[in-house]
Amino acid sequence: MDKTFSIIKPDATKRNITGDINKIIEENNLRIIAQKRILLSNNQAKNFYSIHKEKPFFNELINYMTSGPVVVQVLEGKNAVQKYRDIMGATNPDNAKDGTIRKKHALNVQENSVHGSDSDENAKIEIDFFFQKDEIIG
Ligand code: CMP
Repeated sequence: MDKTFSIIKPDATKRNITGDINKIIEENNLRIIAQKRILLSNNQAKNFYSIHKEKPFFNELINYMTSGPVVVQVLEGKNAVQKYRDIMGATNPDNAKDGTIRKKHALNVQENSVHGSDSDENAKIEIDFFFQKDEIIG
C-alpha cells in the first residue's frame, strides 16, 4: 500500500484542530498508521526544509515551524501522496478548493495547517527522517 508523510503544523496544534484534520484524513480513506506530537528543533526544521533555504521566507518558516508542537504522521492508502495533496488543497489557502483542509483551516500561505510529501521518493525520505521502522504499524 502507498504511503505519504504529513505534518499537522503549529498553527493547527495551537488552535486544537488536530482531531478535525485527522477526521478529514480518515473520511477520505487515508489511514493514520503512525503519529507523534513533537517539538521540532531548529536543526530538524532547517534540515527538513533545506530545499527552501534560498527562499526569502526560509527564516520565517523555520521560526514558525519551531514555534509550537507539530504532529508528524505516516498516512497509508491508494495513491497516498496525490490523494493527500488533493485533500490538503493549494499551499496558499486563497487558492484552495472548497472541502480541503487548507480552505477550511489555513490562516495564510505560511500558517497553512498541514504539510504533505510531493512525491513517493520524498515521502520515503521524510518518513525515514522522523520515524523508526517499528513505529509504523500498517
Ligand atoms: P509546505 O507544503 O510545508 O512547504 C513549504 C512551506 O513554506 C509551505 O508549506 C508554507 O508553510 C511555507 N511557504 C510557502 N510559500 C510561502 C510564502 N510565499 N511565504 C511564506 N511561507 C511560505
